Amino acid sequence: MHIDIITLFPDMVQNYFEHSIMKRAQAKQLATINVINLRDYSANKHKKVDDYPFGGGAGMVMSIEPIAACINALKAQRTYDEIIFLTPDGEVFNQPTANRFSSYKNIILLCGHYKGIDERARELFVTKELSIGDYVLTGGELAACVVADAIIRVMPGVLNDETSALSDSFQDNLLSPPVYTRPANYMGHQIPEVLLSGHPIKIADWRHEQALQRTQARRPDLLK
Ligand code: ADE
Repeated sequence: MHIDIITLFPDMVQNYFEHSIMKRAQAKQLATINVINLRDYSANKHKKVDDYPFGGGAGMVMSIEPIAACINALKAQRTYDEIIFLTPDGEVFNQPTANRFSSYKNIILLCGHYKGIDERARELFVTKELSIGDYVLTGGELAACVVADAIIRVMPGVLNDETSALSDSFQDNLLSPPVYTRPANYMGHQIPEVLLSGHPIKIADWRHEQALQRTQARRPDLLK
């Protein structure tokens, strides 16, 4: 999968993908992440990318021209499955969406800043609007990292058996069961006996029961 991330703050985004599983996915050539500085597409001599809102009001609005120039340049090179704008008024991103997008070949993630982007850029170029939750961030960069990470980690071959996404919370609409590592006894706090039993079926049953209990207690909405 190829992901183009358009942002005014490329360093904020670039760094995230240079570590851990995101780095490994790129090294294995399963994903390519291309971070693009929107300012490079400003025709303005001061590299301006925003302007005052028509009708007045607080904050600046990102202009359509650099966004259009950037997306048109990208579209000349690839066909995109989805051009995604990260915005708090978008559809709330979740695991099923991540799973579905993981089969895509090319996507663009467009990060907004300031008061937002000119509505015409949304109408003319954006095919999907995603929010990562009901709160407002300073910009779309964190949201783009969240969305790209969640998509990449479920792509075939990215995780190995040990880190398999199949046991993640939400994959079966259940939260994950508790996990433990050595020591088995920490200052009198003993791990559940069954995990030392060496009995795979008993352990699997215990984990499933724990996952159910945890989901019932914390996120009963997932069980409906
Ligand atoms: N940009 C600002 N807040 C956001 C959010 N909650 N989700 C996605 N993009 C955003």
